[in-house]
Amino acid sequence: MQWIIKYLTSSIGKKQIMGVSGAALALFILGHMIGNLQLINLDQSVAQAHYNAYTQLLTGMKPIIYFIELGLVALCIIHVGLAIRLKIENRKARGPEAYEVNARKGHKTFASFTMIWSGIFILGFIIQHLMVLKFGVHYLYENEKGEIIRDMWLTTIDMFASPFWTAFYLVSMFVIGMHLFHAISSAFQTLGIAHQKWTPIIDKLGIAYSLVVALGFAFEAAFSCYIANTDEVKVLRDAARSEAYQQKLEVQKQKQLQEKESKKTSAVESSEEFQYSYVMNKEGAR
Ligand code: HEM
Repeated sequence: MQWIIKYLTSSIGKKQIMGVSGAALALFILGHMIGNLQLINLDQSVAQAHYNAYTQLLTGMKPIIYFIELGLVALCIIHVGLAIRLKIENRKARGPEAYEVNARKGHKTFASFTMIWSGIFILGFIIQHLMVLKFGVHYLYENEKGEIIRDMWLTTIDMFASPFWTAFYLVSMFVIGMHLFHAISSAFQTLGIAHQKWTPIIDKLGIAYSLVVALGFAFEAAFSCYIANTDEVKVLRDAARSEAYQQKLEVQKQKQLQEKESKKTSAVESSEEFQYSYVMNKEGAR
């Protein structure tokens, strides 16, 4: 037990946990970027159907999605908490520039120098992101099966219709790309995988990974901004957002919920009836 405490409180232990939590977050954002490619379609009514089906699939995976979300929050807290702790400890121990120089064997790049600041910026980005999208306006949408689900496409595309938010996303993607690039190569070094032959290859893979993620997201944001402001999509957005249409969907949603409830109750009643008649039959047979 003591070795765990020793490991967790050691500088290398904290750095390794930071590396592993960062790697898990990096995998999540690659998956997230690929999922968001559903937004890329010149026919935005198709994008709307596909994107809403995709987000409905994710949010509908209960209770697995709650574990994933809890895991993401825990990873973020661990990663950010340890980064701040290491920064403070290094400042105390060796002065203001210790960690950045250490992280790449004395070689200081712009990305490594700004790691803590880019990290804090990304945290701010995630807060804005969740507030506007996940916890933002909840529009309704009727899918091809007639089910009323959340119109995540509309909330997303409405945000990107604003050149201000799109510009903020483009800047954020640059920062995220830089953070990822340095994090990948430095995580491999921290985990002890430093080799004359492999390190340059790992560095190149790190650049490729960061470029794919950052450019992928940037393209999604820029494309969404362009398409959201075309006349055709403005009409589609206005119609989807209209109060009368949203009210109609709300009524339909309530009906569907009631139907679901009554189906559940009748299923319970018929199973109780079945149990009762089973017991009565058994009693009768005795
Ligand atoms: C073009 C760029 C992006 C788009 C369009 C986008 C879209 C979305 C949407 C629509 C949601 C809400 C999903 C839902 O509740 O159904 C979401 C959640 C989320 N996004 Fe993004 N996102 C983008 C970039 C990013 C980036 C760069 C990061 C990380 C640095 C990120 C991290 C997250 C996280 C952590 C969640 C919460 C996941 C959950 O609760 O299950 N997103 N995103």
